[in-house]
Amino acid sequence: MAEQTKDDFENPSIAELHCHLEATVEPADARRLAARHKIDISGAFDENGAYKWRSFEEFLAVYDAVSAAIRTPQDYYEITYEHYRRLAAKGVIYAEVFVSPAHALRFGMSYGALIDAVADAMGKAEAQTGIVGRIIVTCVRHFGVEHALEVAKMARDAPHAFVTGFGMAGDEAFGDAPDYKPAFDIAREAGLGLTVHAGEILGPESLRQAIFLFDVSRVGHGVRAVEDESLIAEMKDRGLTLEVCPTSNVAIGLYPSIKSHPLPALMKAGLKVTLNSDDPAYFGVDVADEYALNAAAHGLTAQDLLALTQAAVDAAFCDRETKAKLTTRLQARQVMGKTDPYP
Ligand code: ADE
Ligand code: ZN
Repeated sequence: MAEQTKDDFENPSIAELHCHLEATVEPADARRLAARHKIDISGAFDENGAYKWRSFEEFLAVYDAVSAAIRTPQDYYEITYEHYRRLAAKGVIYAEVFVSPAHALRFGMSYGALIDAVADAMGKAEAQTGIVGRIIVTCVRHFGVEHALEVAKMARDAPHAFVTGFGMAGDEAFGDAPDYKPAFDIAREAGLGLTVHAGEILGPESLRQAIFLFDVSRVGHGVRAVEDESLIAEMKDRGLTLEVCPTSNVAIGLYPSIKSHPLPALMKAGLKVTLNSDDPAYFGVDVADEYALNAAAHGLTAQDLLALTQAAVDAAFCDRETKAKLTTRLQARQVMGKTDPYP
């Protein structure tokens, strides 16, 4: 095995599949946007100016409140460009973001203007740095079934080359899963990749229901699968990919520390696992930090990290040609002697 260099850990080639665009806005930038639009979101911050929440429900409420400060195409352009520039500087070659039209549409922005703004910023960042971006249009489960259907129809009726996925975030415990199935059916028929937040707050039963009902190829979180061997076997059979976000899980209180997170167990079980930040401005960790933290906590090798990135590229909601180019970039890294191929 080639000797692992510091660079392998500090600047590995990274791909991210699970990150909420509205949650990439740092508290100081949220205050700046709120001032721009003369709105008061001061209740979202603690005395040190950081985002403030004490439970998962409070986190979702603060997230919704802060998203109200992002209300024009220019705002979306700026936050997207910032996010992609930052990631590219940290070794990220591909990143999908969840974009929630419900948050933007509240303030009169059209779906088309929202998507154009985000896609324009991604295009500019790609031209400057090579980082590739794609959009997962996302509904929020606790906004209800009608909202989920509306978001799926918007994505279907106004296709855009950069909108390649449909997802559902929010409170996993809200509503009845079968009611949301038609939204996923619409998105699937429109040719979009599908992912759903599940197996985060609720356990295997919810995860099983979500996977088999919505027929997704990826699950947001899904870590609670570790509690049920037969579920793991079913997930492996279906070739499902997990978008694992350890720091988010620890911040929300699912696990006491990164060290006690089931990431290694999920990898060892043979599941397709990727590593992601979820809400970087809330949890203080971007995807590059996430790679470093988990490498340190679990003794992951450079090959392990590369395998996580390759799993993300394999499961990415982008076309074959883009995947092939990303894979070539990862292989070039090996040829350059940065790391051995994953066994
Ligand atoms: N929206 C943003 N972050 C989320 C999370 N961790 N779970 C569910 N919905 C979310
Ligand atoms: Zn999420």
